[in-house]
Amino acid sequence: RCEEPRSAVGRAVRDEETWRIVGGRPLRGRVRVGGAKNAALPMLAATLLLDGSTELRRVPDLTDTRLMVSLLRGIGANVTQTPGSVTVDPQTSPRGTVVEPAPDLVGGMRGAVSLLGPLVGRASLRGGGIIRLGPVGGCDLGPRPIDRHLAGLEVLGATIARTAAGVELRVERLRGATIDLAAPPAPGLPSVPTVTGTMNLLCAAAAADGTSRLRGAAREPEVVALGRLLVAAGARIDGLGSDEISVTGVRSLSGVSGAHPAAAVPGDRIEAATWLIAAAATGGRIVVDGAVPEELHAVTELLKRTGAIVSTCGRGVHRAIRLIGPTQAAAFRAVSGPFPGLPTDVMPQLAALASVADGESRLTDRVFPNRTAHFFPFTRLAAVVERGCETTRIAGGALSPADVTAPDLRAAAGLLIAALTVSGPSDWHGSELLRRGYERPLRKLRGLGANVERVDQMGNRPGPSSERGGWRLDESRRILRGSRSNPSEIPACPAVA
Ligand code: EPU
Repeated sequence: RCEEPRSAVGRAVRDEETWRIVGGRPLRGRVRVGGAKNAALPMLAATLLLDGSTELRRVPDLTDTRLMVSLLRGIGANVTQTPGSVTVDPQTSPRGTVVEPAPDLVGGMRGAVSLLGPLVGRASLRGGGIIRLGPVGGCDLGPRPIDRHLAGLEVLGATIARTAAGVELRVERLRGATIDLAAPPAPGLPSVPTVTGTMNLLCAAAAADGTSRLRGAAREPEVVALGRLLVAAGARIDGLGSDEISVTGVRSLSGVSGAHPAAAVPGDRIEAATWLIAAAATGGRIVVDGAVPEELHAVTELLKRTGAIVSTCGRGVHRAIRLIGPTQAAAFRAVSGPFPGLPTDVMPQLAALASVADGESRLTDRVFPNRTAHFFPFTRLAAVVERGCETTRIAGGALSPADVTAPDLRAAAGLLIAALTVSGPSDWHGSELLRRGYERPLRKLRGLGANVERVDQMGNRPGPSSERGGWRLDESRRILRGSRSNPSEIPACPAVA
């Protein structure tokens, strides 16, 4: 039986800010993606493991990266920032220190789970310590346990106890071991590698005695980016980008200079995919800078099947992806899966494309069982969506203007694309969610010719946009207004009685 996620059936939170979108115009122009949220968060967290300062470059200015900076400060790190770069000095902490990242911030985003591996590794390097982590938040895509993270850390030697407040890990010196991340998942969960789980175990294994083997590891580019940062800090890691990673622990890891190539957060492939799909859905022509075309192969191949013309231009780090959208996209079949497969994080954007395609498209998400339940709000724009347990069918046609509220980050992007295809004015509510993962989206949309205006609840234009640029930190508690902790995040920990 398919379960409806709570947020898709009425828990979506309305922002104070509404975007009035008059679509029907093809997106045209050039857009540069920011650093990837899902690489920046674990890279920021990993700085806790290093001795001395690390400067990370191309850190995107997002709600979630601001939250991570606040979390790091809350556990004693010195953090300074200039536009696009963040320098973290984790400071020393004595043996036996108890570390508890602020539970209200941890409950605000899934990415907070990436603190676990670095904190466990740091405790190991410093002769022992205790880490307490409350339930992590994030988009409600169905159950998102962290059982495989915890089971792996336990194999490395952490002692784990579930508490009323979350989970407590007692750490002495970790020992390298073989960890089977491909172990069968809990019933009802897909058998796919865990991305943040692999990252946590990379960090912990880098601080263990001896060699660890991570079998069934995630191959996502964000895992590779984190691994490269650790290697630049002195870690000994082989097999990044494959499903078996070998890590030989070291006694200390040093801070990394911002001049090192590994200190740059990679371009956001999901943001790049979002712009490409938006251009395909609106029959536009765009060039996307700052992403690696090979990381988007599954997305661009699918877009070609819908009739888009996709090519790469430029050389080396200046390569860009160019897309000419079809006048009328053809219907398609999309099945998400682990990298190098189609990312689950583009499925709602593809749902928007399916809604205006010629014929019936079929979308299957193999990573999060409830991802497609978030397609429900597309029906408000008159999309015809029929959700089955395995596959959701979307009959394409012309959409109508509507008032739509996004239930999660990527559905916010999908609904935005759908509204961009409609000639009349739609009121779209989702900017707070969107800013969790997209840097200055309003500015970029307008740069591509979209007619998007911010209005308040009375339909008036509010004050200046918050997209002036530059980091504004220490705002996390204000930002968390309206975001919520997801009770299904309470870690399942079968390894512990
Ligand atoms: N899973 C388990 N046990 C675990 C861990 C995961 O059963 O211990 C299951 C999950 O329930 C899910 C599947 O394994 O069905 C994959 O989960 P994974 O752990 O890979 O996801 P994640 O690490 O929590 C990250 C991104 C997601 C992205 C997924 C898949 C971050 C902060 N989040 O989540 O990004 O969709 O990998 O690529 O890195 C987003 O950016 O909007 C987003 C949701």
